[in-house]
Amino acid sequence: PQAHTLAHRLRNEYVFAVRGKVAMRPEGTANPQLATGEIEVLAQELQILNECKTLPFSLDLEGEVTEQVRLQYRYLDLRRPALQRNFILRHRVVKALRDFFDQEGFLEIETPFLTKSTPEGARDYLVPSRVNPGKFYALPQSPQCFKQILMIAGFDKYYQIVRCFRDEDLRADRQPEFTQIDIEMSFPDEETIFDLVERMLAHVFAVGQGREIVRPFPRMTYREALERYGVDKPDIRFGMELRDISDLVGEEQFQVFTQVLAAGGQVKGICVQGGAELSRREIDELTTFVKGYKAKGLAWFKITAQGMQSPITRFFSLSTLEKIQERLQGQEGDLLLFVADQPAVVAEALGHLRLHLAQQRKLIPEQEYRFLWVTDFPLLEYDAEEKRYVAMHHPFTSPREEDIPLFDTAPEQMKARAYDLVLNGYEIGGGSIRIHRRAIQEQMFRTLGIPPQEAEEKFGFLLEALDYGAPPHGGIALGLDRLLMILAGANSIREVIAFPKTQKAVCPLTGAPTAVQPRQLKELGIKLDLPTLLSSKTSG
Ligand code: AMO
Ligand code: AMP
Repeated sequence: PQAHTLAHRLRNEYVFAVRGKVAMRPEGTANPQLATGEIEVLAQELQILNECKTLPFSLDLEGEVTEQVRLQYRYLDLRRPALQRNFILRHRVVKALRDFFDQEGFLEIETPFLTKSTPEGARDYLVPSRVNPGKFYALPQSPQCFKQILMIAGFDKYYQIVRCFRDEDLRADRQPEFTQIDIEMSFPDEETIFDLVERMLAHVFAVGQGREIVRPFPRMTYREALERYGVDKPDIRFGMELRDISDLVGEEQFQVFTQVLAAGGQVKGICVQGGAELSRREIDELTTFVKGYKAKGLAWFKITAQGMQSPITRFFSLSTLEKIQERLQGQEGDLLLFVADQPAVVAEALGHLRLHLAQQRKLIPEQEYRFLWVTDFPLLEYDAEEKRYVAMHHPFTSPREEDIPLFDTAPEQMKARAYDLVLNGYEIGGGSIRIHRRAIQEQMFRTLGIPPQEAEEKFGFLLEALDYGAPPHGGIALGLDRLLMILAGANSIREVIAFPKTQKAVCPLTGAPTAVQPRQLKELGIKLDLPTLLSSKTSG
């Protein structure tokens, strides 16, 4: 058939070959919005190579489509220009990383996926071994033990762009498999790692964004981050910092505050600029919001020309109200919000409220990149449920040298040589200087309540390796997906992962995970007991 009759059959996303002459479009028909909007092909021959069914969603419109459908037809979703750009960016960033590490003398070394458990705070994905009946590999939560062993093996600068696997509850910035930029060095101190990572990121931002980033990155202790922002990964692109007014309100008549203080709690607040315009209903919504984080209420004052205005003003003296306003640096037209509770609840509630309000009121400069090192983490956290200490970073993190005697007396006071890297309120990396002496590693396991026999079973290989001249070493791992999400201006890491999983850890494209053939289970000696599993899930 003639080219022009065939052309009538062409529909969106058809694949065809055309032979003809390229010409400028006639005047008045050019469309500068399109990549090929200035030209056209005067077709002489046309061949349809493949047709395309009616699309489940339009490729031009963003939004409108559920994520389930987008992921089921991911090959269509990925055709969209925004996603194409994300994966071009991903490629270029990974290439820039490899170039950078190569220039710095780092070797990329692969570590096994079929391995033993590496504790990073999540559950393991297990893989049964057919040739070793009843035994399982664990997919690595990170290459932590192997990279330490590589230091003992004499590769003093290692990196790997590596997939990690964690069976945990998913969120917008978490996937069951994700990619780390994993780094380890021998004989570093914190400054060595900070300098390397800052230069690496400067290189990545120059290549990925054509932007210069401000170095050195600011630093903040864990404690200061919690006090000023309520979280250990503060978004420092805007202010609205938390301020403590406990010392001002202990003697006043407002019992909500005095009772909390008497019980060892605190009262802290934030100042919402221009927030006095908020209605009672809007303030009620904020109260409901903080109650979602276990706060019992939200006390508020509007700063008006007539002074502080609130149903609770009458419980405070005029001079105290003035001091509160001064402490919060409140101006006329602002809204002051307070939570009284135990410090952990106050931090959690106000930390989230601060972010919520900043998003709602559009206070966050989107185009800014604000890095922050968070340092001086506690070594341990007390797990009230399990009634034992757990490592705040991981059990291989070194305590500060001067704190080592505290293992026996006050482990909760020990500080770790650990650091997190925060970008715009996201934890994009975490690392530490490691324990490199066996005795200290054993003491750490003891403090974590791991009996020597269990420590030997789980980590004997590492303990033994430490015995053979392990150099001091340390490193970090950055979440590549999170970094790319921020670079791409996306709001989920699923936008920078080609085939991500849903919140339920399912891949809608392939349908994984799926049931397997009875024959496969038989070969592995595995019997499923779903009724018991499902009933235990519903009952508790
Ligand atoms: P950590 O557990 O802090 O450290 O992980 C390092 C970084 O990896 C990213 N990340 C994730 N990204 C997407 N989905 C997930 N489920 C996920 N979990 C973590 C985060 C995080 O900061 N072995 C140590 C590193 C070290 O000590 O060198 C480790 O894995 O951005
Ligand atoms: P109530 O005395 O419970 O009626 O509370 C009076 C005001 O104090 C209300 O605005 C409550 O939201 C607020 N409020 C109650 N408990 C707390 C608390 N723990 N922290 C801050 N505000 C609170």
